[in-house]
Amino acid sequence: MHTLFFPSFLILACFLSVHSQSIQPNIPLGSSITTGSTGNSWSSPSGRFAFGFYPTSQGFAIGTWLQTSPEKTIIWTANQDNPHLTGGSIRLSFDGRLLWSATGGQEKVISNPPEPADGASMLNSGNFVLLNSARRVVWSTFAIPTNTIVPGQTLQPNSQLISSLSENNPSTGKFRLTNQNDGNLVLYPVHTTNTADDAYWDSGTFEIGFLLTLNLAENGVLFLSGNNGAFTKNLTQSTTSQKPSVEIYYRAVIDVDGILRVYHHSLTKNGSWETGIEWAALTDKCLVRGVCGLNSYCSLLDGVNGEPSCLCPPGFGFIDSNQTTLGCTRSYTGGDCMNGSETTMHVMKNTTWVDKTYSILSSSTTSMDECEAACLNDCFCMAALFKSNGECSKQLLPLRYGRVGGNDTVFIKSGVMPNSSGEPNSSGEQHRRSKKGALLVMTLVFAALFLVVLLGFLFIVIRGRRRHHLYVKDEEAPLKTYSYEELENATNGFREELGRGAFGVVFKGELSKDGKDGAIAVKKLQKVVEEGEKEFQREVKAIARTHHRNLVQLLGFCNQGSHRLLVYQFMSNGSLADLIFKGGQNRPDWKERKNLESELDPDEIILSDWVYSCYLAGELEKLTLHEDVNMVEFENAVKVGLWCIQTDPTLRPSMKNVIIMLEGIIDDAGR
Ligand SMILES: *[C@@H]1O[C@H](CO)[C@@H](O)[C@H](O)[C@H]1NC(C)=O
Ligand SMILES: *[C@@H]1O[C@H](CO)[C@@H](O)[C@H](O)[C@H]1NC(C)=O
Ligand SMILES: *[C@@H]1O[C@H](CO)[C@@H](O)[C@H](O)[C@H]1NC(C)=O
Ligand SMILES: *[C@@H]1O[C@H](CO)[C@@H](O)[C@H](O)[C@H]1NC(C)=O
Ligand SMILES: *[C@@H]1O[C@H](CO)[C@@H](O)[C@H](O)[C@H]1NC(C)=O
Ligand SMILES: *[C@@H]1O[C@H](CO)[C@@H](O)[C@H](O)[C@H]1NC(C)=O
Ligand SMILES: *[C@@H]1O[C@H](CO)[C@@H](O)[C@H](O)[C@H]1NC(C)=O
Ligand SMILES: *[C@@H]1O[C@H](CO)[C@@H](O)[C@H](O)[C@H]1NC(C)=O
Repeated sequence: MHTLFFPSFLILACFLSVHSQSIQPNIPLGSSITTGSTGNSWSSPSGRFAFGFYPTSQGFAIGTWLQTSPEKTIIWTANQDNPHLTGGSIRLSFDGRLLWSATGGQEKVISNPPEPADGASMLNSGNFVLLNSARRVVWSTFAIPTNTIVPGQTLQPNSQLISSLSENNPSTGKFRLTNQNDGNLVLYPVHTTNTADDAYWDSGTFEIGFLLTLNLAENGVLFLSGNNGAFTKNLTQSTTSQKPSVEIYYRAVIDVDGILRVYHHSLTKNGSWETGIEWAALTDKCLVRGVCGLNSYCSLLDGVNGEPSCLCPPGFGFIDSNQTTLGCTRSYTGGDCMNGSETTMHVMKNTTWVDKTYSILSSSTTSMDECEAACLNDCFCMAALFKSNGECSKQLLPLRYGRVGGNDTVFIKSGVMPNSSGEPNSSGEQHRRSKKGALLVMTLVFAALFLVVLLGFLFIVIRGRRRHHLYVKDEEAPLKTYSYEELENATNGFREELGRGAFGVVFKGELSKDGKDGAIAVKKLQKVVEEGEKEFQREVKAIARTHHRNLVQLLGFCNQGSHRLLVYQFMSNGSLADLIFKGGQNRPDWKERKNLESELDPDEIILSDWVYSCYLAGELEKLTLHEDVNMVEFENAVKVGLWCIQTDPTLRPSMKNVIIMLEGIIDDAGR
């Protein structure tokens, strides 16, 4: 069958000039490979990479791999969602598709390219490609990475790598590396939204202002690039020069354990292969969120060789004791205060979790004992997290991302401890408080308790309100606090995007409740690295204090859980930049115009650089957009403007001098 097509292939090769972009197909249409036979893969000319079947825990999968002796390293897998196959054959069909067929005749499409393939090629880079008749790539494995990238391959913005389930099961696993459209590269568990609470590592390139691409250089350096190559950030350092190897291959992979690593595979001078880790995004495996299931906690102390082990807190047992990573569930009955049984609090020192609180007791006033009592006396409270700064947060189940470490103390409510196996004794202590009594007494106690909780709740609400009023006391209109849900509704689920700034995306919204706010602009601060409470409040305060008719009014904010949003008046006429640079007919003329404001946005700083260079070059007419203006007046205004925006405040002129200069009375007042 191959010989039939070989001549036409040869003729093509003779008549087509070799384009820089064109690739020689080395796999003609009609070619096939079959499991169980010797020819069960298509190799690259170098023999280092191959495409074909590889064995898994459940039969076979189709993929590409790096062939080193003695092992294969998988770098791509077809149908990561459901990769398991029973064997069979892979065929490049005459209609230009890549198909898998089982021995029984069942068929599955591996690739159906946008235009029919005329051949395929396993390249020396590790890329398996389908080519059209013009020998251009119409489909490639590099374009749809699974858990790995190799040199020459990239992870594009808005795409992700997903870890495998286990070393010999390539199905979708538990973790993902997401290249966010805010420029940040972040590790999360799968099935989470992109929020800071779920992130366990990031590249620190948040809101950089343009999209970034993840690359692996030939020398093994993992780096982010963007802004047409003007921006690069190395995530790792090169070590190539230290390795006296004959050949060396690198790969970046999100491993089964959720950690992003770079590996090298090098052929040493004596002909043996050596493999090792070049770089790992993090080393403490318990910092990987989602490594242990809900209501469990991760410990390195009980594991072997730095391997994490998942444990249940006192009063909890494994959902499945054969699969400890699935999480824990309450193993006791009773213990909830509506049933007059015994309630106990267990203390776990130096343990923490990502808090998902419903109530925070103010810091600095709460002691550890008060924190414990607060939870014990609250029917809703299932656990409390006491932080070293004195903050006590009360929580419901489930507990997420628990781990041993740090200075926090955890209190867990439970009933009478059962004597079951698999219960960690850990650092737990048991504090037992009996609340048994006659039914009448219980009823009275709970009525009283309910009142106390209610009063406490009211107290917290009122105090919270007062706090907000206090911190905007010096303002004319007090800032409103909005709930996240309120803003989500107002913006119709953050649908209409108005623009992007340095710290977040701005959405249009409508608040028609009291008819006063009307149209609003909601700025969603999307920082993945957690920003301190104080920092946020300081920011809000600073913005709230700024009142100027030329500045947009801050109406309020939302500070709920991990959500940080600012609510502004909506300006229906768009931004100043739009008006000046895209205004067309409506563009303000020079007389209407840049009063030069000294409150400059980061964008406008670039504008000021441009103005300065025009001024230095004596090319001020460039700035007037070919309008007929009074050049003396204009030059004065430019000079005042440049003077006002000196980086060092002490070099800026006084307002008095600015007025004098603008009136043209003196030229370089007191310089
Ligand atoms: C980043 O890595 C490249 C090598 O790939 C090196 O040439 C460059 O100097 C590095 N940049 C920084 C800032 O370290
Ligand atoms: C080859 O050299 C490496 C070091 O470069 C060494 O670790 C390995 O044991 C050697 N293998 C043989 C078979 O000599
Ligand atoms: C755990 O595995 C053992 C043997 O491997 C089996 O007998 C037992 O039923 C399993 N337990 C559960 C809860 O699946
Ligand atoms: C109260 O708890 C006990 C076990 O401590 C249990 O047997 C009983 O069913 C519970 N009653 C209710 C109403 O939940
Ligand atoms: C715990 O506290 C010690 C000192 O009290 C401090 O050095 C350490 O950084 C803290 N650990 C964490 C995780 O906050
Ligand atoms: C445990 O937490 C306490 C504070 O509660 C702290 O002083 C101590 O250093 C912590 N120990 C470790 C090993 O982190
Ligand atoms: C728990 O086990 C201990 C012995 O290991 C026993 O003395 C104790 O009575 C048991 N407690 C319960 C509640 O069964
Ligand atoms: C359980 O904890 C106690 C201290 O609370 C300790 O004395 C005991 O040895 C621990 N038991 C086990 C099996 O670790």
